[in-house]
Parts: sequence; structure tokens; C-alpha cells
Amino acid sequence: MNAPQQALAQPVPATGHPGYMSGFGNEFATEALPGALPAHRNSPQRVAYGLYAEQLSGTAFTAPRSHNRRSWLYRIRPGAMHGAFARIDHAGIVAGFDGLAASPNQMRWSPLPIPAAPTDFIDGWVTMAGNGSPAAMRGCAIHLYAANRSMQGRYFYSADGELLVVPQEGRLAIATELGLLEVEPQQIAVIPRGVRFSVSLPDGAARGYLCENFGALLRLPDMGPIGANGLANPRDFLTPQARYEDVEGDFELVAKFSGHLWAARIGHSPLDVVAWHGNYAPYKYDLRHFNTIGSISYDHPDPSIFLVLHSPTDTPGVDDLDFVIFPPRWLVGEDTFRPPWFHRNVASEFMGLIHGAYDAKAEGFVPGGASLHNCMSGHGPDAATFEKASAADTSKPHKVADTMAFMFETRTPIVATGQALASPLRQRDYQDCWAGIGRHFDPNTP
Ligand SMILES: [Fe+2]
Repeated sequence: MNAPQQALAQPVPATGHPGYMSGFGNEFATEALPGALPAHRNSPQRVAYGLYAEQLSGTAFTAPRSHNRRSWLYRIRPGAMHGAFARIDHAGIVAGFDGLAASPNQMRWSPLPIPAAPTDFIDGWVTMAGNGSPAAMRGCAIHLYAANRSMQGRYFYSADGELLVVPQEGRLAIATELGLLEVEPQQIAVIPRGVRFSVSLPDGAARGYLCENFGALLRLPDMGPIGANGLANPRDFLTPQARYEDVEGDFELVAKFSGHLWAARIGHSPLDVVAWHGNYAPYKYDLRHFNTIGSISYDHPDPSIFLVLHSPTDTPGVDDLDFVIFPPRWLVGEDTFRPPWFHRNVASEFMGLIHGAYDAKAEGFVPGGASLHNCMSGHGPDAATFEKASAADTSKPHKVADTMAFMFETRTPIVATGQALASPLRQRDYQDCWAGIGRHFDPNTP
């Protein structure tokens, strides 16, 4: 073999992200011990190192190949091995949304405070809103979380939905069965339904938003005339390499199942997967890598241009859940009202602010806060933002910097929970932000 051929044979670093593999929904293969993955088969008579083979499927066995998700795990003990589950109470989780009335009122909340009492990631959930149900496999639950200590001897999974984690303050170290995801504010993590995990808080405290997606698995949107590149690029999604804990003790496995929490004793860490392969796995994405696309002439496009991930339905173009972001971007539209316009939509919108300020609201919507605008409820810029933007010089570009807002947008109205409606964090004067909008109409001045 000559020198150039040797050079070609050198392995190329896959991502520049140690501990992760790059790509969205790829067929990954990873092992923490050499030879732990069976070659050319999934379930050999005896697995290397005395491991157990276990399949974890996230779609129907017969789902079309393009949407079929499953992984094979090679673990120290099978996932079946734990005590009986018993229901446990949780102060903040609301089991379902049936029987609760959705409201056409625009609503806004101030941030959840970091708790004073010891509270881990699971203890710290507060269900704000949602629709649909896990049983219908449609809709989502929207929670806030605020925590001040790591999960200790405790592991969790949701059988109800895929969990989209949007940190707003404090990093999270999410140790999952399939590897470690470390995320910080302006990054997101997605943990598939059923994957067990435990969350540590490297900064001592953490706060953010959660969306439990009951519908089809989140995927990247089709891009139509945009072409093959842009928005969230697949190579920026990172899935962890295999990493396992070989620990025995008296631990707790908590499951979210049909809206309620259930706990079982488990004598070992369930994060004992030594190797795995497949395309059903947790991943993270840095929202700052989003390739933001907008108008370079006049007006600005519909916010669907900011779609990161979506959960499609059987109706083409109509999603159960859209995850949309409003990242830093240049506004260059000439003779254009540049902030988000006034609008009423058939979809319903739950918004949060991760960082900085949002360009449609001069005040009141702060990082960690949230707002809800339901189907056909009018909203848009507040009075101060409207007056400022109407007088702005649009002959020059303007950069909306230092911002990262997002939206969970759904097909059906979003029901605020009783605790969200009654919360002292609810800004009951929210509608006043539009009260000062002036009358400018003059039939004699075209
Ligand atoms: Fe909106």
C-alpha cells in the first residue's frame, strides 16, 4: 500500500464532539467495550461479556422504513428487572386535560422561582398546559421545571411521550440508558418515550421548559423551495455514545404512565447499557446553529420558516406540535413593519423566552416566563413596540441580537391547567399591553 492510500485509510473525526455522534435519526452503532455489539445480527444465542439483548421500539414494528425507529440495547440486566410499580403523588404534574376548558383569553406568566426546599428535576415539574392525551397518541403536555439538586438514586422515564427539554437557566447532565447528554441554555435535548434517565445539575440549580409530545416522533421538516440545506441542519444533532453504570444499591425507578407517576424499587442502575445500535435514541441540538432564513425584500415570512422540529399528523401540512424558535437575525425588509405582525391563527401558541428580549414585547415577557395565545385569539406587538417600529428607519438593516424565544405550537387549543390559571405568577394585567394602542385612522388622510 502506498502513502496516499494509507492517508485515505486514516479515520476521520466524525463530529469534533467527543462523546457524541452526529446526524438526525441515523442508524448509529456504539459500544463502551470493544466487541460488545454483535456483528451482523441482533440477538445471538450468547451476547459478548454476558450482556442481555433488548429491543426498544419507538414506532410500530410495521411503520414505513423512512419513519421506523428502534434500537437494540446490550445491557447488564434486562429492563424488566425491578420491583412492582405503585402510584406516587406529585404536587405539580397534572394527569390530563379532559374536562378542563380551554380559554380564549391571552395569558402570560412570570418565571417559576428556583425552589427553596430540596427539589430534583422530577420533583420540580409544574404542568402549565396541554391538549390531547397519551392514550390518543395526540397532543402534548407543557410543563415548566425548576430544581436545585441532582436526582439521587432515582431514575425516570415517560411512557406517555417523547420529552423535549428546553433549558432556560443552568446546565443539565442527562445520563440516559444510551449515553450522556450535557445541555445548557440555548440547547435542547430530546429523550425518546421509554428511555430511562437521571438528571444532575452541574450549576446547582436549573430552570426551563418541557414539552411531552404524545404524537408522532419529532422530525425535521421538509423544506420545499428552500432546498436541501438550511433551518436545523441534520449534522448539528448529536446523539451520545454508549456509556454505562455498573452500580448496585437500593434505587427508585419512576415512570410517568397515563399521566400519573409510578415508582418501583430497583437494585441496580438501569443505565447499564454497554452497547447499542439503532435509530431510536436521545439527542441534543444547539439552537444557535439554526440557519435562520427570512425575507431580503419586504414583509417577513410566516413563522413556519423558523421551524426546528415537528410532529406531523395524518393530514399533510398540519402538525400536532411544532417547535419553533425566534433566534437572533437581521431584519432588512424595506417599507416593512419589522416585528411580528398582529395575527390570529387557527393554531394555538405557547411561548417561552430562553434568553434576552423578544422583539414583539417591550416588557413583561422575561426569560423563564411564558405566554399562551389560543386558536383565533388576537395578539401581536404591544403598544410601545408598535409605535417604535412604525417610526423606525427601514432603509437600513437592523439586527435583532441577544434573543432566543421559542414556541410550542399545536393543532388544537391548549388548555391551561387549574394551577396555571390560579398561579400567583400569572400576569392578570397582560391584556393591558394592547390597551394603549392608539387610534390612527383618518378617512381624510390616505
Ligand atoms: Fe403568535
